Amino acid sequence: EKGGYEHFMLKEIFEQPKSIHDTLRGRLLVEEGIIKMAGIWDNLERLNQAQKITIIACGTSWHAGLIGEYLIEEFARIPVEVEYASEFRYRNPIISEKDIVIAISQSGETADTMAAIKMAKEKGAFVYGICNVVDSSISRVTDAGSYTHAGPEIGVASTKAFTAQLTVLSLIALKLGKHNGHLSNQEFMRLITELDTIPQKVQEVLDTTHEITKEIAKNFVDAQNFLYLGRGYNFPAALEGALKLKEISYIHAEGYPAAEMKHGPIALIDENMPIVIIAPKKGHYDKIVSNVQEIKARKGKVIAVVNKGDTQVASVADYVIEFPETSECFSPIIASVPLQLLAYYIAVYRGANVDQPRNLAKSVTVE
Ligand code: F6R
Repeated sequence: EKGGYEHFMLKEIFEQPKSIHDTLRGRLLVEEGIIKMAGIWDNLERLNQAQKITIIACGTSWHAGLIGEYLIEEFARIPVEVEYASEFRYRNPIISEKDIVIAISQSGETADTMAAIKMAKEKGAFVYGICNVVDSSISRVTDAGSYTHAGPEIGVASTKAFTAQLTVLSLIALKLGKHNGHLSNQEFMRLITELDTIPQKVQEVLDTTHEITKEIAKNFVDAQNFLYLGRGYNFPAALEGALKLKEISYIHAEGYPAAEMKHGPIALIDENMPIVIIAPKKGHYDKIVSNVQEIKARKGKVIAVVNKGDTQVASVADYVIEFPETSECFSPIIASVPLQLLAYYIAVYRGANVDQPRNLAKSVTVE
């Protein structure tokens, strides 16, 4: 059942080239230069005329939503807000018939997300679902939607569902931008050609970082805290990396936008503070280099997640994890993979039950 892997989580991490490919299949048609998504196409006018899009979700799906905000605002130029479903539903949010709500849920059963959708519908919003479980409650109550084709996710910590959510959000943002004229045909073609290579690049990052993350993990079995830093598209990837570690290893971890470090968290940094920093070449690289220097000056232990062939960050970091270069907007899909592996191995070395972490359930059907 686990296909020779010790845990479902590891199996699901390794399934990502396939789950991303399956999520793109039949939708991303590079040769024809189109993205085919019935849910978007059938509601194109409504979506592109939205005065705002509100993304609602919980946990990992909320992190995917944050990246969705960056994608949709960059490529379709529609204002996006991202809210925790549990906050949205209890605060009388400003939502009208002109609004679009996108609900993201792996299980399609999360109680808070479900309640938030009902409220948005009562206020007249058009609700679009991004679910993984076919025919789940959320997929049934939404007005339209696109499934992630990640396949069943058994491990409680979400991995392949997250990268599949990012894949669907990328498709949606690019399709909206192409049709509303904010994305030139040339730019659209460049981006879809790149998106098409992502399954391959995820395979490459699995092949090249599996052993390294395992080795690095051994050094942090007794860590009590971790910081995860990233900028731009990789800020939510840092939040997600920290959540993975918390959930399965029970080590306290926090994610921050790298530039926020100096507004507080820097006070925590000493030789006992490991810091995972995501620093791809495309994405405020120079700024990140100076963040790394600030951390090293305070003796923090840096685990740098950088592009292949990086020398600047790599030369000052304590540990280096390399991943293939891609457009900044797709980099969290690839960079998240070694962070999943790192969290997995730290948890395994601590003897934790990674598939069934204490106090957690796969779908949270109570509020
Ligand atoms: C994290 C995790 C949870 C879920 C959250 C939302 O690994 O599993 O944070 O992401 O409970 O669940 P869904 O996406 O099913 O609505």
